[in-house]
Amino acid sequence: MHLLVTGGAGFIGSNFIHYLLRTYQDVRITNLDNLTYAGNLENLREAENDPRYEFVKADIAEAAQLEPVFADRRFEAVVHFAAESHVDRSLHLGVEAFIRTNILGTQKLLDLTRAHRVPRFVHVSTDEVYGSLDDGGSFTETSPIQPNNPYAATKAASDFLVRAAAKSYNLDAVTTRCSNNYGPYQFPEKLIPLMIANAMENRPLPVYGDGQQVRDWIYVEDHCRGVDLALRHGETGAVYNIGGMHDVPNLEVVQQILHLLNKPATLITHVPDRPGHDRRYAMDATRISEELGWAPQFDFTAGLRRTVDWYLNNRAWWERIRSGAYRDYYQKIYQQRS
Ligand code: NAD
Ligand code: DAU
Repeated sequence: MHLLVTGGAGFIGSNFIHYLLRTYQDVRITNLDNLTYAGNLENLREAENDPRYEFVKADIAEAAQLEPVFADRRFEAVVHFAAESHVDRSLHLGVEAFIRTNILGTQKLLDLTRAHRVPRFVHVSTDEVYGSLDDGGSFTETSPIQPNNPYAATKAASDFLVRAAAKSYNLDAVTTRCSNNYGPYQFPEKLIPLMIANAMENRPLPVYGDGQQVRDWIYVEDHCRGVDLALRHGETGAVYNIGGMHDVPNLEVVQQILHLLNKPATLITHVPDRPGHDRRYAMDATRISEELGWAPQFDFTAGLRRTVDWYLNNRAWWERIRSGAYRDYYQKIYQQRS
């Protein structure tokens, strides 16, 4: 099976490529990524010399860059991860890049997929499109779409464009919506790697507001398996929720990280809350479990231990990121918060 994977140099995309290469002998992967601040080819060093893998630098919002990639190959599916992915950036740095990549870029890919008759399109989306749960219950695939931050709004728009392409042109599209991922290669602006790196350097751990916001955490490999099942067996036009079945307040996650690293709770610093911060996410993943036989294989304690170990053993990876362009961003955000 020859796949076009977009955003494969990012966190989940690179984990997905590693997962495919170790799971299937007969897979071929073209990784299309324009290497934004979040794209890092170091994540794919082990794949570089694998004849089943190739990298193409291109921007999904530029049809002229996509056209030759589709024309020269006969893809059997597109798996679309590429996005501007961080909520805080969409709030503090402006939404334009999010609109361009997440909305326009998704539409360009849909157009090329249709024009070149690629048989299947898998759209990787997020629980953020459902908004916040203030009372009990969890999100199902039929929950209302009520995004509350600019990132989530652009992902919701992309979900609607995928739906529209499926309905209007019979495009064979499947959408997955997943909760908060963690694991190796996650950019250290996101909660878990940021807290691990800060704790290792004895820096303050900035918890937004009271830290009682609840997120559902999933180990990235479990997400990758879900996307792969949706790709191979998902029903045309379907949406599948994917969740780790581990809903906990942020503060508890941070405390667990400190415990694993044997660092003091005094490093925790409560900072002003994220604007419009969603209070609680929880996912109902019954559909993918019942229809595709998916279940998470990593419990949070084991997954977090593996993740902490990875950041301990790959210090150079995140230190290089933190000493580069990202440092200026982080300083700006941190000044705004304090
Ligand atoms: P990431 O920010 O780590 O990686 C995004 C990748 O997309 C990067 O390699 C970047 O270079 C690439 N990219 C960005 N703009 C591009 C463009 N215009 N053209 C080509 N490539 C471009 O993101 P991630 O956390 O790995 O998320 C991947 C996908 O999964 C996103 O669509 C995100 O919305 C979705 N998702 C993420 C999570 C999570 O917890 N991280 C949860 C659910 C869904
Ligand atoms: O829910 C799925 C989403 O998870 C994905 O769609 C996004 O692509 C992915 O980035 C992630 O969303 P966020 O961008 O909100 O993740 P982040 O790790 O920044 O935040 C997780 C929670 O932790 C959130 O409630 C805010 C809180 N937080 C985050 C940071 C960075 C803090 O309290 N302090 C922090 O410094």
